[in-house]
Amino acid sequence: MKKIIIVNGPNLNLLGQRETDIYGNKSFEDFFNDLKNKFSSVKIEYYQSNIEGEIIDKLQEVGFSLDGIILNAAAYTHTSVGIADAIAAIKTPVIEVHISNIHSREEFRHNSLISKNVKGIVCGFGLQSYELALKAFL
Ligand code: DQA
Repeated sequence: MKKIIIVNGPNLNLLGQRETDIYGNKSFEDFFNDLKNKFSSVKIEYYQSNIEGEIIDKLQEVGFSLDGIILNAAAYTHTSVGIADAIAAIKTPVIEVHISNIHSREEFRHNSLISKNVKGIVCGFGLQSYELALKAFL
């Protein structure tokens, strides 16, 4: 059985309530339960943190044993050399995911510091971006 983890960065714990015109009104927990039911032949874990160092700790913890990491680093996408370095340091491939199309938004969101080190990127498909990334791993 393949083991995949979804790692969500800052403010994504507020999905469903936060800027719903951009991020939709479904909570991540509801989406995640549906995803697990739909892909019952995969072991899918979930981790969320608002803290940069905790995200790095999690990447290091799972990054030598799991089959894939689906990472939405949220705002840290645009700022974190530490997360980019952690992705380069681990063995497990990472797919970068964004709910919104970061290229159609403010200019500061156009640059991702982590993209260089990931296997691929899915962005702009709402919560479906996570499902597309999961399918890419399978
Ligand atoms: C996001 C896009 C980021 O620019 C933003 O800071 C987020 C969410 C997305 O999923 O669309 O928090 O990663």
